[in-house]
Amino acid sequence: MTATAPEDVLALDPATQDLLFREARTANAFTDEPVSDAQVRAIHELVKWGPTAMNTQPLRLLAVRSPEARERLVPLMNEGNRAKTATAPLVLVVTADSGFHEHLPTVFPHKPDAREQMAANPGRAAMARFNASIQLGYLIVGIRAAGLAAGPMSGFDAEGIKKEFLPDGGQDVVAVVNIGRPGPDAWLPRNPRLDYDQVVTTI
Ligand SMILES: Cc1cc2nc3c(=O)[nH]c(=O)nc-3n(C[C@H](O)[C@H](O)[C@H](O)COP(=O)(O)O)c2cc1C
Repeated sequence: MTATAPEDVLALDPATQDLLFREARTANAFTDEPVSDAQVRAIHELVKWGPTAMNTQPLRLLAVRSPEARERLVPLMNEGNRAKTATAPLVLVVTADSGFHEHLPTVFPHKPDAREQMAANPGRAAMARFNASIQLGYLIVGIRAAGLAAGPMSGFDAEGIKKEFLPDGGQDVVAVVNIGRPGPDAWLPRNPRLDYDQVVTTI
């Protein structure tokens, strides 16, 4: 008896599996084809449905589009991340809003005291970072679903970005993500992934 191939076990068709995962790569260079606000909106409309704890949805996005704003961001990136951040069609600064609890009466209405409880919770900022990081994963997959490539980065001066772009406080920078169509020399070599047996323990 031949075992069913893993890709045939999934509900998602193999071509879409390729688009979102197997063929999708982290882009390090982009063409100059613009990424529109309509594309960003469509990505958000898709990935907003990804789950977060208590439906907190702490992810916020700052779309750095204007050349002036880009000039302020690039020096705050680590050296190796500067050229691609300067030339990507669009750059998203991904933040975690520790003020997410203000929305709980709307987004988690069946627990009426959630906002007050969360306001007093010393773990609120950590919860925001954790859940915004989960949402970052959804965002990367959503960018790929739009037929675009993402270049997520954690190499930057987080305090500098906060000071320059988010002076009101309450936001932590989770990542900076370049978006666009991959250009020449977009890829580093594809590195191996861990195997099932290295990752999954069944008890
Ligand atoms: C959260 C996160 C942070 C990353 N930070 C950086 C970074 O600062 N600079 C960089 O060049 N690549 C960065 N990367 C890219 C990863 O190295 C890359 O996604 C990974 O090696 C997989 O590459 P592949 O998609 O081409 O297989 C980051 C990726 C993620 C998801």
